[in-house]
Amino acid sequence: MTSVAESDYRSQLLPKIQQAMSEKRFKHVLGVEKAAVQLAEKYGASVEKASIAALTHDYAKERSDQEFIQQINKGNYPQELLNYGNYIWHGLVGADFVQQELAINNQEILQAIRLHTTGAAEMSLLDKIIYVADYIEAGRDFPIVEQAREIAQVDLDQAVAFETQQVLLYLISSKKLIYPKTLETYNRWVVNL
Ligand SMILES: [Fe+2]
Ligand SMILES: [Fe+2]
Repeated sequence: MTSVAESDYRSQLLPKIQQAMSEKRFKHVLGVEKAAVQLAEKYGASVEKASIAALTHDYAKERSDQEFIQQINKGNYPQELLNYGNYIWHGLVGADFVQQELAINNQEILQAIRLHTTGAAEMSLLDKIIYVADYIEAGRDFPIVEQAREIAQVDLDQAVAFETQQVLLYLISSKKLIYPKTLETYNRWVVNL
């Protein structure tokens, strides 16, 4: 049996992802893949979808603002999205580039990419895995990451809640604009859990 790590599809995808980003970000992406595959195995999600969604989640992160603005204007997006920046766009709008350029049409994968920064009130198992894996991958070294890793091994929903609360604390303390979907995630996963 061929493992996911050796699959032809993955090895064809890898160089396309690598050429779209810095070496540092590519390392992060591989770390997210490893974390996502482990979580998929643990919580019973598709390992292959977790791998592909993780590999492609930051595919568009190094695109120019101009490219995102063009895509927002021609796509079916609310104009208020233009008030935000790469932090919100690279997932939510970046999934369009993944679909167009990497020919990934699986809606579960595309949704996990779209939601990886903000989360959502409604999240599939795959959405949660990518959201949490992005936060806890081995290359992350912020102070409370070890706690986040431990929670992720016990309860994935609690890991979503923990991450969401920390992200919001950060956004508020640095007076950053908060995308409404992040508040929806907070209301659903932190308050009503
Ligand atoms: Fe990202
Ligand atoms: Fe990421």
